[in-house]
Amino acid sequence: MSRELWSSRTGFILAAAGSAVGLGNIWKFPYLAGKFGGGAFLLAYLILVFTIVKVVMLSEIAIGRAANKNAVGAFASLHNRRWKIVGYMGVVACFMVLSFYSVVAGWTIYYTVEMVSGSLSGLQPDALTGKFEEFIADPSLPVIYHGIFMLMVIAIVIRGIKGGIEKVSTLLMPALFIIIIALILRGFMLDGAMKGLEFYLVPDWSQLGDFDLWSAALGQAFFSLSLGMGTMLTYGSYLDKKENLPNTSFQVAFIDTAVAFLAGLLVFPAVFSFGFDNTAGPGLTFIILPAVFNQMFGGQLFGILFFILLFFAALTSAISILEVMTSYWSEEKGVCRKKSAVIFGLLTFFMGVACSYSLGIWADVTLSSILGINIDLEVFNLGVFDFLDYVSSNILLPLGGLLILIFAGWIKPKRIMDEITNNGKVDFYWKNAFIIMTKYISPIAIGYLLLNSIGII
Ligand code: PFF
Repeated sequence: MSRELWSSRTGFILAAAGSAVGLGNIWKFPYLAGKFGGGAFLLAYLILVFTIVKVVMLSEIAIGRAANKNAVGAFASLHNRRWKIVGYMGVVACFMVLSFYSVVAGWTIYYTVEMVSGSLSGLQPDALTGKFEEFIADPSLPVIYHGIFMLMVIAIVIRGIKGGIEKVSTLLMPALFIIIIALILRGFMLDGAMKGLEFYLVPDWSQLGDFDLWSAALGQAFFSLSLGMGTMLTYGSYLDKKENLPNTSFQVAFIDTAVAFLAGLLVFPAVFSFGFDNTAGPGLTFIILPAVFNQMFGGQLFGILFFILLFFAALTSAISILEVMTSYWSEEKGVCRKKSAVIFGLLTFFMGVACSYSLGIWADVTLSSILGINIDLEVFNLGVFDFLDYVSSNILLPLGGLLILIFAGWIKPKRIMDEITNNGKVDFYWKNAFIIMTKYISPIAIGYLLLNSIGII
């Protein structure tokens, strides 16, 4: 059976950018930057994306297109069955990421509804914080929204790449961009906005010596660019053989990074202007932005539009995650696409329920508490939501990326280089830099930061 392809190069770029741009940019990036000192985190992030991580992106897309297969099948068809393990790890990471991702995506639906009803209008920052905390800890409401979101993801993935995934992405990305710019301009006019800009744009150099900051920035770069878990590989596998991979992958990385950068410009002026704590964590975007909307002329309308677009950004990312699991199961095991999407979708939904409960009624459930032992390592003492987030972003994705680099740099260097250059037809002007980065610099840097995340260094 011949596989579907994207209908155009723009179709791929928009779909891949649709996968990359999501909650990671607008929800996660600002709160991590806030936690790790603003400017220093931004700088570390930019350095990593445009050096070490960029080559993972290109390698991953090239492996997908070379094999023209799903994440698990690709490694087996290009080399041997043992390498399937990288694909399997990706599928597991997808399951973990999508379960908490869908919960947060559900929050965007709730906030859209609240914006429409006007119930956040006029609330003071403290009240907005209280409302957010009360909502995420509720045992039923977030689960309902999470379920609604998951149903939509399943419905779209069942339709396949052209009918479903590509169409949704094409329209929404540009709209999101425009509304973020409008909101940033309003944020700049707030009293005290400059302090926020300074925090975000001027690095405190001393913080760059902190390896936890670099590990967090690396994990975030993988998460934000949808790397290390087979997503870009799977999307690359639907890409036409004539396309220019170096340019295409650069464009996707650039768009994604631009949106993350803008999200910081959006959030920090307001954080400082309203006197919020910049280390507030996952609630940051959800609490700060309604406070900005409350200060704006036409704020309610902006609020509604913003949360709708954030919801769509989350949707295009979530689709790409479920697609990895679905294409694996349907191509490798012959299960029909529909059944595969529904079953993986449901499993993820149940895990997501546990994530959501861990922010309320199951707050005390940690690995330590389940195993009944007391271990002083961070991973053992996180709730389900934070545990899945930490293990996927800080461990599984970089590990997947590391293995992808070893594959592209050491196992099949010629095959991957031929793919990247379309058998010599593409002018790949940073070819030598790519080879050195893929073989040596990136794997060593990623390996080092990975050991730091696991707690070995
Ligand atoms: N990149 C997405 C975001 O930033 O929201 C999340 C994501 C999608 C992560 C796909 C991983 C993935 F494979």
